[in-house]
Amino acid sequence: MPFISGKELLDKAWQNGYAVGAFSAHNAETIQAIVMAAEAEQAPVMIQVGQRAIQYMGLEPMKAMIDIFAKTATVPVCIHLDHSRQYEQTMQAIRLGFQSVMFDGSALPFADNAAITRKVVEASRALGVGSEGEIGKIGGTEDDITVAEEDAMITSVQEAIQFVDATDVDYLAVSIGTAHGIYKKTPKLAFGRLQEIAAAVRRPIVLHGGSDVPDDQIRQAVKLGVAKINVDTELRQSFTLGMLEVLNQDQEEYHLSVTLGRGREWTMRKVQEKIRVFGSAGKARDFV
Ligand code: G3H
Ligand code: ZN
Repeated sequence: MPFISGKELLDKAWQNGYAVGAFSAHNAETIQAIVMAAEAEQAPVMIQVGQRAIQYMGLEPMKAMIDIFAKTATVPVCIHLDHSRQYEQTMQAIRLGFQSVMFDGSALPFADNAAITRKVVEASRALGVGSEGEIGKIGGTEDDITVAEEDAMITSVQEAIQFVDATDVDYLAVSIGTAHGIYKKTPKLAFGRLQEIAAAVRRPIVLHGGSDVPDDQIRQAVKLGVAKINVDTELRQSFTLGMLEVLNQDQEEYHLSVTLGRGREWTMRKVQEKIRVFGSAGKARDFV
């Protein structure tokens, strides 16, 4: 199945009341795990490349690996650049053939965030690439950026409307109580605010910090307009725990296919689990 633009993918999910998982990849095995899980569940999927993977593996090598492992997939796949904080990097990703890009200007003053995001939207749209922007500060640590709990801010309806009016992003990341990473205490998502924002901006909403959020809250957020859910930490955890399962046994031949293979297997299972909760299992048929 061909690669698909983020806008086409998420508009359909949003209109049909389910969310597409945007799963962070870090190496060959995590890419394979995401593709294998999406095929097993016959679900459309976003494979996202974040800043730490770019620092570790490189943007172009990550894109090339995803192309190789996903080009024969039997489900729609969208390759997404996650949390980019440089306009130039978003342009590089588009040049490489990413089907979706996020400019994350949430740490900038509103006017600067809006201005750069608008530029990214215009370039992306001209080339049929989906665009994501963020307004409001999502807590926790993502890649190399940490937002302290007290600085995390729930997105206001007013700023969401102003941001969308100024940028016309295809999909909007908001802060409604999730945080990047594992929670110290169970989050309580601001569903009332989500409902107001979704009704006001009338486009797919993106939920960051998808790891470790109770399933019932995820399902409620999807009902209220979330159509893209980002997951990274739980996948990294699964991969590591899978490898540890092997590493804690007596080793004789130290085959990486066994160690990394077990990490891939655990990650695949975790992605399948998330796909089912997000409601996108079986939805590949929407795109035939
Ligand atoms: O952009 C990536 C996600 O927001 C990752 O969040 O590590 O809490 O799943 P997570
Ligand atoms: Zn994020």
